[in-house]
Amino acid sequence: MTDRLARDWDDLARIDPMFTILSDVSKDAGRWDVEDFFETGRHDFVATLARAEEWSLPVSNELALDFGCGIGRVTQAMATRFEHCVGVDVSAAMISQAREFGEGMARLEFVHNVDSDLRLFGDGQFDLVYCSVVLQHLGRRSLVESFIGEFCRVLRPGGLLVFQVPHALALRSRLQLRRRLHHVLRSLRVGSETLAAAGIYPIGMLSVPPRRVERCLRDSDEEIVQLCVDVTRTPRYPSATYWVTRRSAVS
Ligand SMILES: C[S@@+](CC[C@H](N)C(=O)[O-])C[C@H]1O[C@@H](n2cnc3c(N)ncnc32)[C@H](O)[C@@H]1O
Repeated sequence: MTDRLARDWDDLARIDPMFTILSDVSKDAGRWDVEDFFETGRHDFVATLARAEEWSLPVSNELALDFGCGIGRVTQAMATRFEHCVGVDVSAAMISQAREFGEGMARLEFVHNVDSDLRLFGDGQFDLVYCSVVLQHLGRRSLVESFIGEFCRVLRPGGLLVFQVPHALALRSRLQLRRRLHHVLRSLRVGSETLAAAGIYPIGMLSVPPRRVERCLRDSDEEIVQLCVDVTRTPRYPSATYWVTRRSAVS
């Protein structure tokens, strides 16, 4: 894991965490209302549960993992259903704000993790592994694939893994001109806040074709089964959400 990636997320978390996470142009410069922001997390989680129910997928209620949790937008919502929810993030600043926003709420735990894997968790622990708006920012496809392998490893037999990743990018996103410009200007000692105010961000985007995701799932473990794929056709980065389970052991 590059230190720079963690440092970039830390900078953004200190400047404007909510806009960094949900970049709605009408909410930049600290204009997100806290309640509205966390309401989006409840909305996303309710939609996830509704989809699972529609497809008759298994969702239990014990232990959930929110990978790349940010400030706990979705993790907080998960805690309304799961007995214990663990949010993991590479940014210490995101984690510290997740703890502050979640203060006094039961069932939540936030963990800082800079490793390129989830070695801090044992095999087959989680009933739900959830990851949204994270994998596209990992910088390398190989890292995305290795984290997908880790999601499968920590998934309990009969558990549900739900993760989203773009499957294509518009040329503009692929060129990553702003990210490149950010790195040049930072090396000239222009401050992160100045750059963020000018809309120049350090975070890159990538996509992973479905056949690569499917191969990665197939290779991870023979008990891992891809159940469904949900495709969202947004013009700049059409995404796929993958719904996966680990078969329960046959008795
Ligand atoms: C766009 S935000 C999304 C946050 C959250 N998933 C949500 O939907 O509210 C992306 C998050 O991924 C985190 N992240 C990026 N790379 C990561 C990594 N390698 N491990 C864990 N978290 C990571 C960032 O720090 C940031 O909080």
